[in-house]
Amino acid sequence: MTITQSQRALETKNGLGAYAAPKTMTPSHSTDDALPLTGHENLTTIQSYLLAEERRHEGASGNFTWVLSAISLAAKFISAKVRRGALVDALGTMSTENVQGEVQQRLDVIANEALLRCLGRRSGVAIVASEENEEPLLVESNCNGKRPYVVLFDPLDGSSNIDVCGGIGTIFSILRHDRRAESAEGSVLQRGLEQSAAGYILYGPQTTLVLTTGNGVQQFVLDPELGQFLLTNDNLRIPQANKSYSVNEAYTSAFPQPYQEYLSWAHGEGYSSRYVGAMVADVHRTLLKGGVFLYPPTERAPQGKLRLMYEANPMAMIIEQAGGLACAGTERILEIEPTALHQRCSVILGSTEEVERVTSRLQHG
Ligand code: AHG
Ligand code: MN
Ligand code: MN
Repeated sequence: MTITQSQRALETKNGLGAYAAPKTMTPSHSTDDALPLTGHENLTTIQSYLLAEERRHEGASGNFTWVLSAISLAAKFISAKVRRGALVDALGTMSTENVQGEVQQRLDVIANEALLRCLGRRSGVAIVASEENEEPLLVESNCNGKRPYVVLFDPLDGSSNIDVCGGIGTIFSILRHDRRAESAEGSVLQRGLEQSAAGYILYGPQTTLVLTTGNGVQQFVLDPELGQFLLTNDNLRIPQANKSYSVNEAYTSAFPQPYQEYLSWAHGEGYSSRYVGAMVADVHRTLLKGGVFLYPPTERAPQGKLRLMYEANPMAMIIEQAGGLACAGTERILEIEPTALHQRCSVILGSTEEVERVTSRLQHG
């Protein structure tokens, strides 16, 4: 065997064959000066994707692209801190509590600061609201006829996973600034249906950003060498069904009866259970593999635990745009009229068939 032959055999064995030149690309020049291809058939960055989208909308001001680029910059900053963790003193707790009365982790605060700083300097952002701040923050009060945006976020989702190297994320929701509202909070309190865009970033083995602007769901992966989010899927669709549920099953006896009945039915049907304990990671798996993610009401949290404005609403928009369903009990999450920035709601989301199996029990229960 020649060196090249044995190398190829090894590459195939190790699955490295994927790094060969993509079949669709035929070099127009001699093979001697062919570029060493890396496997990226499509080098579409999130910025170039958004600019191309913007061109399709007549009269677009560019504000939206600018807001998204602030979020992707913050995500790269947070990702870098997550990757280094203890090496840059980013783990452990603070001595402070957030507005929900939860102990803050250092990374909760770092992520919040990163988003506030990146978004606070962008024209086009009128108001930002975070899980970590009691009140929405007014960034630009005089909009001068512009139509800027309101950005809501959970800067660091899945805090309990931070110190154990588990999956964590950031969730965001983008609304139009409602200039009729008298207060910043008034402008923020819009139904999920009004969202202009929603997305999340999952800091897992890769850092991935999943986005919807109301035109399907796109996935980008952060290339650590290029420092860019590159498009990997421009139309994610959730499978219609999968025998898998994701719930904190330790609370089962505190769930309303119809949820308990669904879980015992699923046991009999041979369902799998998957639960990371970080909504971003659990929803991401549900989006890609199908199944249902549940956070029902409990005795301790009768409204549910998750927050409507920056957890449930953005995830509901993504799941619906991917062809799934998202409900709070029997109500569609995106239709809930919000009354408070930090209000909670119960969540059932995922594959259409699996969500309906739960909601039909709630309807008849
Ligand atoms: P956060 O870290 O932003 O407070 O969110 C934690 C949430 C969510 O990520 C997850 O789905 C849920 O809490 C897990 O709650 P339990 O530990 O009660 O299962
Ligand atoms: Mn969260
Ligand atoms: Mn959080």
